[in-house]
Amino acid sequence: MKRKSIALPVLSVLILGVLSCSQPKKNNAPAYEKKIDSLISQMTLKEKVGMIHANSSFTSAGVPRLGIPEWVMSDGPHGVRPEHGRGWTLLNNGKDSSTYLPTGITLASTWNKELGYKFGTVLGSEANARGKDNILGPGVCIIRTPLNGRNFEYLSEDPYLAGQMAVGYIKGVQSQDVAACVKHYLANNQETERNTIDVEMSERALREIYLPAFKAAVEEGNVYTLMGAYNKFRGQFCTENKYLVKDILKGEFGFKGVVMSDWGAVHNTMDALMNGTDLEMGTDLTQKTPDYGKFFMGDTVIGLVKSGKVPESVVNDKVHRILRVMYETHVMGGGRKKGEINTPEHQAVALKVAEEGIVLLKNQDHVLPLKEDGLKSVAVIGANADRKNAMGGGSSQVRPPFEITPLQGIQQYLGDKVKVSYAEGYKVARGEKADPKLIAQAVKAAKSADATILVGGWIHGYGGQWSDNAFDSEGIDKPNMQLPFGQNELIQAVLKANPNTIIVMMGGGPMDMTSWVGNAKGILEAWYPGMEGGKALAEIIFGKVNPSGKLPVTFPKKLADVPAEAMGDYPGKNGKEVYKEGIYVGYRYYDSYNVAPEFCFGHGLSYTTFKYDSLQVTPGDKQATVKVKLTNTGDMAGGEVVEVYVHQEKSELKRPEKELKAFSKVFLKPGESKEVELTLPSSAFEYYNDQKHQWVLEPGKFDILVGSSSRDIRQTGTVTL
Ligand code: NOJ
Repeated sequence: MKRKSIALPVLSVLILGVLSCSQPKKNNAPAYEKKIDSLISQMTLKEKVGMIHANSSFTSAGVPRLGIPEWVMSDGPHGVRPEHGRGWTLLNNGKDSSTYLPTGITLASTWNKELGYKFGTVLGSEANARGKDNILGPGVCIIRTPLNGRNFEYLSEDPYLAGQMAVGYIKGVQSQDVAACVKHYLANNQETERNTIDVEMSERALREIYLPAFKAAVEEGNVYTLMGAYNKFRGQFCTENKYLVKDILKGEFGFKGVVMSDWGAVHNTMDALMNGTDLEMGTDLTQKTPDYGKFFMGDTVIGLVKSGKVPESVVNDKVHRILRVMYETHVMGGGRKKGEINTPEHQAVALKVAEEGIVLLKNQDHVLPLKEDGLKSVAVIGANADRKNAMGGGSSQVRPPFEITPLQGIQQYLGDKVKVSYAEGYKVARGEKADPKLIAQAVKAAKSADATILVGGWIHGYGGQWSDNAFDSEGIDKPNMQLPFGQNELIQAVLKANPNTIIVMMGGGPMDMTSWVGNAKGILEAWYPGMEGGKALAEIIFGKVNPSGKLPVTFPKKLADVPAEAMGDYPGKNGKEVYKEGIYVGYRYYDSYNVAPEFCFGHGLSYTTFKYDSLQVTPGDKQATVKVKLTNTGDMAGGEVVEVYVHQEKSELKRPEKELKAFSKVFLKPGESKEVELTLPSSAFEYYNDQKHQWVLEPGKFDILVGSSSRDIRQTGTVTL
C-alpha cells in the first residue's frame, strides 16, 4: 500500500512531464493568454478597432471600462523625445528632459554588445519614467550609401554587426518593462522620396543584407514591436506588404509582436488588415483636431467586419498582439518596474558609449594623445566644436539636461592651467562658402597656440527636412560627400599653419577627405557622441581614455566609389530604385571589386598595440570554433575588437571576398594576454542561393580571417566543412 501511494504521484509527474514536452505551446502559454481571450470576448467591435489605430500623436486607445490603458509611444532611438502632448507641437513645459545617448552609429562603433544592452537599459528605464510603454528604436536599416540623412540613427553597413548591436539594445530596453520597436522594415535606406520610392532588390540581397538585422531582432532579441517603413518594396508599401510582413516576418520568423506603421505609412485598408499591419500610427498635420476614425484602420474596418468582408478574427489577432505586449511589459497585470531619469548612472553609460564609440582613424608620428606637459595654449577651431546636436535631426531629437560640446569638453578637461581659444572657422548655413576672414582668424589662432584641434564634419538640421542646413536629417539626404561651408579650404589652411593639428570629424558618416587627408597626422571620428560627448572626446585627445572604437561603415575615398553609385542607381529613377549592387554593399563591394577605401570597415586605432597569435580553427558539426591569443604589447591599457571574417574558396554562386561572422571586444592591461574563443555556427558559412531559393552550406574549404579590421588581417586559418 505504502509503495503504491508513493509510486503513483511519481508516475503522474513523469507522465505530465512527457506531455508537457510534447505539447510545449499549450502548457507553456503564459497565464495572461487566457485573460487576453477573455478581455477580447468582452470588447465591442468599436472598442477593438479603437485599439488598432492612433488616437493622438503618440498613443493608441485603450478600453478603460475593461482596465486596458492607452498605449503610449515615444521616439527613440537615442533618448526619450520631448513631449508633444496629444498634438504635434512641442509642449516645452520643462518636464521632458532625458539622457541624450550617443546616436546609433556611435553605439555600433563600440562593437561592444554589453554596452548595447546597457544603452537599451538606460533608454527603457527613462521611457518608463516618462510614462512611455514603447520606445521607437533601434533603427537597423543597412547603411547603403553615405548620403542617407538618417545614417546617424542606424548602425552599420554590415548585417551581422547591426543585428548583434540591436539585440543587446532591445534586450536592455525590454528588461525595463518597455517595448522596443525595431525600425524601419524594410529598405528605408534613403530619405530621398522615402514616402514613395519603390525598392527592387534581388532575393539574395534581401536575405543576406537587408533582412538579417530584423531577423536577429525578432529571433534573438525577442523584440515586441516593429515599425514598417514608408517606402514600397517590389511594388507594395512596406507596412502592408504581403511578402515582407505576412510571409516572412509573421510566417517564417514567427513574429508574435505588433507591427505598427510609421507615421502615416498605411495606404490601403484591406492590404493593412490582411497582410499583417496591427496598428496604424500617424497624425493628420493639416487638421487641428484630426479625426482618427478616418484612418485606414479606423471606422472603415467596422463596416468591413459587419458586412462580412473581413472576419472579426483578423481584428482580434491585432488586438491580441497589442495586449500580449502590454502584459509582457507589465503595462497590464501589475508589477511593472519603475524607471528613472537622468541619473548619474545613466549619464555614465552615455559617457562610456562615447568613449568606446569615438574612432581614431589616423595617428601618424603618434601625434595623439596630446601631451599636457608644458601645454600652455590650445586653439579649438570649427563651428561644430561649439554646436549642440541633441535637438537636431528630426524625430530622434532629445532634450538633455546638458550637452557637453567638444569645446566645453576640452575647456573642462584642461581647466584654468591652459588657455583655450576658439575660432569659428566657418558659418553654418546652406550654400555658405569658405569665408577668407574666418579662415584667416583660424590660421592665426593655430599659429599662436601650442596645439590645435579642428572640429568639423556634418551637422544636423534642427528642423529636420524643413531646415535649410540639414545634412544628417530625417526627410532629406546629403547632396554629396563634400564637407559643407568651405570646410575643406579651412582644414587645408589650418593644417598648413600647424601640420600637427588634430582633425575631429562629427556626423553620421563619411565625407570626402581626399583634399587634406594626406596632410593630417591625427584624425578622429566622433559621430554624434551624446550629452557627454565633448568630455569623452577630450579624454581621448589627451590620453586619459584609450580609443577602442571601430568603423561600422567603410569610409570610401569619394562618392563615385560607393557601390550604390558605381553599380546601383541611387536615388532611383521615376519613383523606382533597383539595388543593382545586390549583396555588394559596403566592404563586401570594396573588397570584392578591389576599390581602396580611405578607411576600411572595422578600422580603428589604439594608443597601444595588440599582437594576435596561435590561431586555432577547430571544425565541428557544420560549425567551427576559433581560438586566438591576443596580447597587449604596448604600455597602455586598452580595448581591441577581434574581428572574424569568413571567405569561401569556391562556391557555386560568387560570394563576397569576406564577411564578418563573429567579433569580441577585449580589454587588456599592458603585457596582458587572453585567449579569445568564438564560435562560428553553420549560418556563418551559408549563403542564400537564389537559384535554389534557399540557404545553402556548400561543402568545401573556408578561410577564417582574424584581425583588427577588415583589411588588417593578422591570422588566417582554414576549415573544411
Ligand atoms: C517618422 C519616422 O520615420 C519614425 O522613425 C518615427 O518613429 C516616427 N516618425 C514618429 O515620430
